[in-house]
Amino acid sequence: MTKEEKYISLLPQVKALCEGENDIIAKMANVSALLHQEFGFWWTGFYRVTVYLRDKVPESSGHSVTQTPRHSATLILGPFQGPIACVRIAYGRGVCGTAWKERRTVVVPDVEKFPGHIACSSESRSEIVVPVSQGDEIIAVLDIDSRKLNTFDDTDARWLEEVVKFIP
Ligand code: SME
Repeated sequence: MTKEEKYISLLPQVKALCEGENDIIAKMANVSALLHQEFGFWWTGFYRVTVYLRDKVPESSGHSVTQTPRHSATLILGPFQGPIACVRIAYGRGVCGTAWKERRTVVVPDVEKFPGHIACSSESRSEIVVPVSQGDEIIAVLDIDSRKLNTFDDTDARWLEEVVKFIP
């Protein structure tokens, strides 16, 4: 079966798993399991954009306690299949943070040639990261790692962009 044929047969399964379910974590869990199982990737999973309060003003700082707290966002590890991975990835950092910042799928044929690549596993050789959008907002990224060079191309990008449409 070609890669394209695999994706063609996989998409209705993704649809069946996600349709009628509104819990995003459950959908991410099953979609990562399905992709991982079908393709035998090294690592398959999601990082979720998570908003948190920052710049908490220490009592001794002399700032007014009424100072407005500011919000910030980071990627936090979500449902995945494969070896343990780094938990937080900042905006614009690594392949995941780049896909989030640039709002586009990033295909990395050789991770050693991607400046700032975050090596969660030394086994990873190539990678693809696909943003998950809800309306105009990016709410997560799908990250897939392979132990072989040049695993991912435009075919993966195109089909995985269809897959992640079922997540929100
Ligand atoms: N390589 C990713 C980090 C996540 S792991 O691959 C699971 C990156 O550079 O963002």
